[in-house]
Amino acid sequence: MQLGFTFSLLLASLLVLLSGVEAAPTKRSGLVTLPLKRITQTRSDLHPQLLQQHINRGLKRYARMTGRDEPSALELRANLHKRLYIPAEGRPGPRRVNSKRFNRHGSKGTQAATSASSATSTGSAAGSGAGFSEIDLEAEDNGGLTDANPPTAANSLGLDIEAYDVGYIATVQMGTPPQDFKLLMDSGSADLWVGGEQCQSTEGGNCGNHTFLGNQSSSSFVDLGSQFQVTYGSGAVQGDIVTDNINVAGLALNNHTFGVATVETDDFADDSVPFDGLMGLAQSTLSEQGVLTPVESLAQAGLISDAITSFKISRLADQKNDGEVTFGGLDPTKFDAATLTTFNNVNTEGFWEGAMSTVSVNGQDLGLQGRTAILDTGTTLIIAPDADAAAVHQAIPGAQSDGQGGFTLPCTTNASVALTFSGQQFAIDTRDLLFSPVDPTNLTGDCVSGISSGQIGAATEWLVGDVFLKNAYFSTDVGKNQISLAKLV
Ligand SMILES: *[C@@H]1O[C@H](CO)[C@@H](O)[C@H](O)[C@H]1NC(C)=O
Ligand SMILES: *[C@@H]1O[C@H](CO)[C@@H](O)[C@H](O)[C@H]1NC(C)=O
Ligand SMILES: *[C@@H]1O[C@H](CO)[C@@H](O)[C@H](O)[C@H]1NC(C)=O
Ligand SMILES: *[C@@H]1O[C@H](CO)[C@@H](O)[C@H](O)[C@H]1NC(C)=O
Ligand SMILES: *[C@@H]1O[C@H](CO)[C@@H](O)[C@H](O)[C@H]1NC(C)=O
Repeated sequence: MQLGFTFSLLLASLLVLLSGVEAAPTKRSGLVTLPLKRITQTRSDLHPQLLQQHINRGLKRYARMTGRDEPSALELRANLHKRLYIPAEGRPGPRRVNSKRFNRHGSKGTQAATSASSATSTGSAAGSGAGFSEIDLEAEDNGGLTDANPPTAANSLGLDIEAYDVGYIATVQMGTPPQDFKLLMDSGSADLWVGGEQCQSTEGGNCGNHTFLGNQSSSSFVDLGSQFQVTYGSGAVQGDIVTDNINVAGLALNNHTFGVATVETDDFADDSVPFDGLMGLAQSTLSEQGVLTPVESLAQAGLISDAITSFKISRLADQKNDGEVTFGGLDPTKFDAATLTTFNNVNTEGFWEGAMSTVSVNGQDLGLQGRTAILDTGTTLIIAPDADAAAVHQAIPGAQSDGQGGFTLPCTTNASVALTFSGQQFAIDTRDLLFSPVDPTNLTGDCVSGISSGQIGAATEWLVGDVFLKNAYFSTDVGKNQISLAKLV
């Protein structure tokens, strides 16, 4: 009983996280999400009707076919902004529901205290069939950041790991004198923002234990007097558009235009959130602020030759901490050059999206045709269209659907799921399929799958986050509008 209860709560809260963002006030498992004041549509130049139609067509048709109301343009955009920051322990709101499962007692508590060291011997051996990683379980409980090693290439920043591979964070300098800001690096949005000195949480109070930017702390800070708002899959911010000096990987970008948040939802404002803002690294056509992204500005200023951003996303359980983001090129020490494959970005709104020719499970091609994948470092999981997610799990022995979009699979699974882009197949490490144990005291029981179902765009469109991106070197090139993937070394 206890287990069933806990599990349904977990799935309920995952579904809340996966269910997208509505514009209207929404009540989610006891949390009322206050709507942020809507900013008048000013970016019609950046979101021409043609592009909107392209993105919306599939969803509208799908809605008609299934007898649902056609989604509004706003809902469609919100869907495309779907993002998943799985909460660490103690984050408020619906996450409290989630955190209940971490209330472990007695012996487990003592075990947790020592598992960091014991995991080195047992957990790090975790490969196929070994069960959920102790290291990940510990990080799921404690949240926080695991610092990256110093980067191995020029123009690069280490990517710290948030909790159990939930997000990836780099440190940049902003203001005069420069202060360090920790930013979640997000290839699935295109706005840079940090909390402002006047920042307030929608839950009341200030924006938590973070570093803020404003005219008190920075003599070069200028408020341009216009506003922005960004809504993510979980969380939203609004604030002022400003200019200030920033320094990214030693590259000084003076008078850069970006946002400081005056209002944040607790997804960002809570003390336990281990970053101060976001750096969106999709294309600026997607920017709500209507400005160049940092990598585009760096290229425009001639500080890098091309607006290329390259990611090596690290896996906590590997304990290598070799995550890195490189601006202006690729870090050849991170990937096998013979496997580098480059393909066109098929998204016209500014996301990074490629044609995905096959999806296979244990070497068996599932026969999914014409699929595309938005590659998004800011999304934790893989979110596949309902039928596709079902097909993947049907091919995994022991996997089960909860009938509501979530799946479980044995934590001891040996399943190998692989995605193919431009003729190159990329296998997902089995450990990455295990998002979280259903029962944290049984790491060889059932696990929540890292592949979930949800309609994010067209019925052929996948949202492919860190569960996959940990398994490839990932590079984007704004100038060529191309994406590259390569196998890691
Ligand atoms: C996975 O592989 C390991 C080692 O080959 C084996 O012991 C285990 O039974 C397999 N698990 C499943 C679920 O097939
Ligand atoms: C605030 O953040 C600092 C630095 O990240 C940390 O050392 C401190 O424990 C945090 N305090 C609280 C109350 O979270
Ligand atoms: C600093 O910013 C605050 C809040 O935006 C504003 O009220 C104040 O006038 C600013 N001070 C200066 C000197 O610009
Ligand atoms: C900084 O950028 C803003 C907005 O692009 C511009 O209006 C302003 O003149 C610039 N200031 C300097 C000192 O370059
Ligand atoms: C863990 O789960 C597995 C699979 O359901 C089960 O066989 C095993 O007995 C469980 N172990 C414990 C300690 O509950």
